[in-house]
Order: sequence, then structure tokens, then C-alpha cells
Amino acid sequence: MAAAARTFVLIILLSATLAEDDKLRFKAATKPVRLFTEEELKRYDGTEEGQPIYMAVKGVVFDVTKGKEFYGHNAPYNALVGKDCTRAVAKMSLDPADLTSDTAGLTDEQLKSLNDIFEGTYKTKYPIVGYTAARILNQDGSPNEHFKPEDQPHFQIKDEF
Ligand code: HEM
Repeated sequence: MAAAARTFVLIILLSATLAEDDKLRFKAATKPVRLFTEEELKRYDGTEEGQPIYMAVKGVVFDVTKGKEFYGHNAPYNALVGKDCTRAVAKMSLDPADLTSDTAGLTDEQLKSLNDIFEGTYKTKYPIVGYTAARILNQDGSPNEHFKPEDQPHFQIKDEF
């Protein structure tokens, strides 16, 4: 009888744990995606101690805080953070003129290099925290039809909007 009671309690505990797990899963799946304006993104440039460090590549905002030795204040790639620096990553350049999301005139080789780094480094290594307003919206504020959230690993389409 005592054994049966113990089994019963165990089952109750297990089902409570599973329900909690499901709740967490649901919460993660419905987490809203953040949209960053240029001004907002600038706040996360590593200047403020204790703040996360964000950088955008191809309009996707990554939390690069764990790469502080690259991106933190006074670190070698600090110029890349707090902004979308797609062009700089494509060209492997830290020239101030390249610290922009503008991809106009990039060669096929630079675009391939950009994609390799985007997939192999950023998407693999760093969590996505949102998207730049410029990636999701057109200049006039209408939705950008070329925005493909399904390209991103951490979110499902239904979580995006
Ligand atoms: C003499 C020039 C350079 C050297 C010796 C160098 C060296 C390195 C090394 C050794 C790593 C890998 C570190 C690691 O994974 O532990 C790295 C990563 C990287 N480098 Fe450079 N680099 C140079 C120039 C540049 C320039 C000009 C850029 C401009 C965008 C750049 C952007 C990057 C990026 C984005 C990463 C990935 C960092 C990450 O994992 O988050 N590098 N570099």
C-alpha cells in the first residue's frame, strides 16, 4: 500500500514537472522578437560596463557579449558593435566607411565571405536578440517583403510578429 502511494505521488510529481516544462516551452516559443532602431542598437556598443553587447549582420541583431575579448570596450573589433556592420564583415574591413549595412557594389567573393561568416560564426556562436528596423521595414514603414524570418535558426515564423 505504501509502495502504491509512493508511486502515485511520483506520478503526480512527474506530471506537474512535465506541465511546467510545457509551459516553459510555450513561453520560449511565444517570446516576442525585438526590433532595433539605429539609436537603440547604439546603446549596446560595449561602452557601458554590465550592459550586453549587440551587433547586427544582415539586419539580424546578435548578442555578442560572450565575445567580449573581440568586441568589448578597447577590444580589436569594438568598431563593429552597436550597429549593423554587414559591409565591414563582408570586406573584413574596419574602415569607418565600411561600418554600415550597405552591401552595394560588394563582389561575389565578398558576399560569399559574408554568408560564410554569418552562418559559421554569428548564427552558430551568438544568440539572436532581434532584427534591425531597416531589415523588417521599408523606408516608408511598410513591411519588407524580402524579410525571411524562416532563415533564422532560433525563431519560428509565428513567433516573429
Ligand atoms: C591583421 C589582421 C587580423 C588578424 C590577425 C585577425 C585575427 C583573427 C583571429 C585569430 C580570429 C579568431 C579568433 C577566435 O576565434 O578565437 C579573428 C576573428 C574575427 N575577425 Fe579578425 N583578424 C584580423 C583582421 C580583421 C578585420 C580587419 C576584421 C574586420 C571586420 C576582422 C573581423 C573578425 C571577426 C568578425 C571575427 C570573428 C569574431 C567572433 O568569433 O565573434 N578581423 N580574427
